[in-house]
Amino acid sequence: MFVITGANGRTGRAAAVHLLSAGYPVRAVGRSARRLADLAARGAEVWEADPTDSAALTDTFRGADGIYAVIQPNYIPDHPDFGAFQDQVAASLTKAVTESGVTRVVGLSSWGARHPQGTGPVMGLHRFEQRLSAVPGVDTLWLRAGYFMENLLDHVHTAAAHHRISAPFEPGLPLPFVTTRDVGARAGEELANGTWHGTEVMELQGERDVSMREAVSVIAKAVGADDFTYEQTSLAEFHAELRSKGVSLNVADMMAEVGEAINSRHTRTEQPRTARTSTPTSIERFIEEEFAPRYRAARPD
Ligand SMILES: NC(=O)c1ccc[n+]([C@@H]2O[C@H](COP(=O)([O-])OP(=O)(O)OC[C@H]3O[C@@H](n4cnc5c(N)ncnc54)[C@H](OP(=O)(O)O)[C@@H]3O)[C@@H](O)[C@H]2O)c1
Repeated sequence: MFVITGANGRTGRAAAVHLLSAGYPVRAVGRSARRLADLAARGAEVWEADPTDSAALTDTFRGADGIYAVIQPNYIPDHPDFGAFQDQVAASLTKAVTESGVTRVVGLSSWGARHPQGTGPVMGLHRFEQRLSAVPGVDTLWLRAGYFMENLLDHVHTAAAHHRISAPFEPGLPLPFVTTRDVGARAGEELANGTWHGTEVMELQGERDVSMREAVSVIAKAVGADDFTYEQTSLAEFHAELRSKGVSLNVADMMAEVGEAINSRHTRTEQPRTARTSTPTSIERFIEEEFAPRYRAARPD
């Protein structure tokens, strides 16, 4: 039996679905059983636990052959100290692993997590890796995922209204765009069949590297608009825009640091691109299946 934390989130749900489809027993953990009803309908055992409640998590982990450990959500826009939230969840997950006696963990981390500083929210994932990897007798595989394709969905409304996508990244900089469903599926695969020992790191770099300029041209083609542009905004403009949307100073600072870290290559992939570090979904397929329908729904006409 495998325990999936964050089962209502994007990667967690994909991990649970992958394992259930392959016939494995799954315990899906989230804050609300109601929001996990679809996984229950597919055969998952559903347990409610808040990720900061280590006693509740410990109960959910008992008897598992392996767990998927993830700090969710992706971020909390108005949080005054998101790093402290990440540390609280990381401590809770680590205590639950220690006390439940679980010996196999697949943890979600990020490209750039090697660095303790200068990577925005990825610093919290670095600390998560350090903390959980220090538990004796546990084999932990860290999936250091690339840049989520789903981040592009934040731009749907501006894209529909102005045929423009603005972000702080250099237009031609290759990014390891990966979908959350591929990350979750890999987590499930590794839990079921993985052979790692001790602490190992595996980057998930997506199907191929894609620049923002290329991503925008894929969008333009998919939605049939020739006049689509990518605009690199300065970090100061990006920060001000986040603040104007109600994002806390702490989270806006972190997000701007992500832009700086990626443009300066402080955050970069470090493992060779191989079958193991690549995942199947192309940017074209993601845009066709996920971005384009939302774009069409958001068009003013
Ligand atoms: N964005 C990127 O490019 C990128 C790249 C690499 C790694 N990552 C990492 O990926 C992780 C996110 O994974 P994901 O995309 O699978 O997560 P996600 O989909 O963002 O998780 C969403 C779930 O989190 C839960 N949630 C929402 N607000 C919460 C709160 N205040 N407290 C506790 N739980 C809350 C909700 O489930 P319930 O309410 O049902 O509990 C919700 O369904 C993060 O650690 C992020 O750093 C991101």
